[in-house]
Amino acid sequence: MCSIIGYVGKSDAAPILVKSLHRMEYRGYDSVGVATHDNDSICMRKGTGRVQEVNDQKGLDALSGVTGLGHTRWATHGAVTDINAHPHMSSSGDVAIVHNGVVENHETLRDRLKEDGYTFASETDSEVIANLLQYHKDRTGDIKESLINTIQDIQGHYAFIAMFDDGAMVSARYGEPLIVGMAENGIFLSSDVLGFIEHTDEAIYLESGMCCIIQNNDVQIMDYAGNVIKHRTTTVSKEFGDTRMGEYANYTLKEIHEQPNAILRAGMNSHKQMEQVSDMIRSAGFAYATGSGTSYNAALIGQKILRRSAGIRLEVILSSEMSAESDMLRSGDVLLAISQSGESADVLDAVRIAKKAGCVIVCMVNSVNSSLAKISDVILLMDCGQEIGVAATKSFMAQCGLLLRLVDTLTDGAGIDHNKISNAISDVISNSDMIRDVAYTLGDTKDVYVLGRGIHHSVALEAALKIKELTYIHAEGLNGGEMKHGPLALIDKSSVVIVMNPHDDTYNDMLLGAREVQARGGTIIGVSDKSSDVYDHWIGIPSGDGVTYSLAEVVVSQLLAYYTALARDINPDYPRNLAKSVTVK
Ligand code: F6R
Repeated sequence: MCSIIGYVGKSDAAPILVKSLHRMEYRGYDSVGVATHDNDSICMRKGTGRVQEVNDQKGLDALSGVTGLGHTRWATHGAVTDINAHPHMSSSGDVAIVHNGVVENHETLRDRLKEDGYTFASETDSEVIANLLQYHKDRTGDIKESLINTIQDIQGHYAFIAMFDDGAMVSARYGEPLIVGMAENGIFLSSDVLGFIEHTDEAIYLESGMCCIIQNNDVQIMDYAGNVIKHRTTTVSKEFGDTRMGEYANYTLKEIHEQPNAILRAGMNSHKQMEQVSDMIRSAGFAYATGSGTSYNAALIGQKILRRSAGIRLEVILSSEMSAESDMLRSGDVLLAISQSGESADVLDAVRIAKKAGCVIVCMVNSVNSSLAKISDVILLMDCGQEIGVAATKSFMAQCGLLLRLVDTLTDGAGIDHNKISNAISDVISNSDMIRDVAYTLGDTKDVYVLGRGIHHSVALEAALKIKELTYIHAEGLNGGEMKHGPLALIDKSSVVIVMNPHDDTYNDMLLGAREVQARGGTIIGVSDKSSDVYDHWIGIPSGDGVTYSLAEVVVSQLLAYYTALARDINPDYPRNLAKSVTVK
């Protein structure tokens, strides 16, 4: 999603802003821009491409001035073009803005402003914010009034930062994240702590419906009526700043390697909350879970674990489907809302619907300061450190770790040994070379099908999602028994089928399905604790209990996807078109 950053301080703003944008690259974007204030005027440079590229071409960091703002854009309104890139200026050039989110009534506002003589250069919804601020400033002559009137005019969800030609900076947050960083060398406004963590760990998390003005090296925080609000400064965990790649070639590989630790850490410090949630679930006998993408797949794994190991029914609802499914929610029901970022618009919406129905919200998140944590009744912390790679890996493992701790608590400690899982993951990682060799045979593949049954079907869904995201190869997760009921029609010599085939009572049936695929020319990759002549390639996993074994399968699929991305010359950290936290619906 878009990232916004603002800086008012003592140092040159542009190089600081460019560095901040670099640190927030993981959030996903297609264009970049910076504007600074110097000598009562605003200068702007922007373009499509990656931060480094645009900076090399246009010298973003060479702009002068100690006040500035920057942006990485993830297109929603208007194509990926230089003109649509942010910042946007008001038609007089006296106001520059950067925006994350959607202005829903932008067409009405645009028409109104055009009638009043304001002009527009881009196709974006964001540009109306610049002209609207200008419009109100032209009429009132006052920055605060201009801000308050503007936020009362715009509808939607957004965070924006604006800079006026006198150097004043204003900002507002409604639905999208915005954090103030208080550093010695200046004040930051940012979508993400990573925007300023290099300079300070002192942060003020603005609530939705708050705005602020930075003038004379001071920040004034207000509600939307302009009343000044007392704010609390939080010291951000230093760990969030620890985003170095170290010895690894990229973040995705680093994060895959962090999983043996992620599974151990998840929920270690949440005993009290786990007891609280377990009591609620025990007395109800069931719970709901919701999430999107990988977090949804973690919920599906949780569904199987809770039922099998604790006899608890977990009904899983895709977050984007919550409004269609909400008729079954009752007051007092427990909803586990699972989200790495805690900022996904679909998840937040699902939670709002469930809250309205009177549900108790238990979130599984990676940040206590996320929007989801703020609207939840109980927080279970994933505690896996910042995940930079856009494709979720260690956060998935941490979510599974939390669900396993829940099982431990529900069964009074009779759950699955986390050390065993951690060791199984390490074993898979130590087998990376073999997985890489298989992956390098997939370079030109067009279609991949991943088959699994029971919990291994949930693994297959997650595996297919990772392959899509990291390799751009069409991939589908299918139930092993369903191939012959339709999908077999798709199989030809170009198809690759990955068979998640544990040596249990489904083993022979899965092999039978694999033979049917092979008879039609498909290539079979067997991921199994037992080899077979059916497999064109065999990736062995040590035998283990269902859960330990399944999570080892997940890591095999992550590594397969990762190395296939490398074979196809794709940067695994930043898949095209994707954003790390999807804050739009
Ligand atoms: C997959 C992936 C996405 C996210 C999804 C939900 O690798 O990263 O599918 O899992 O967008 O994100 P969170 O967990 O932040 O709500």
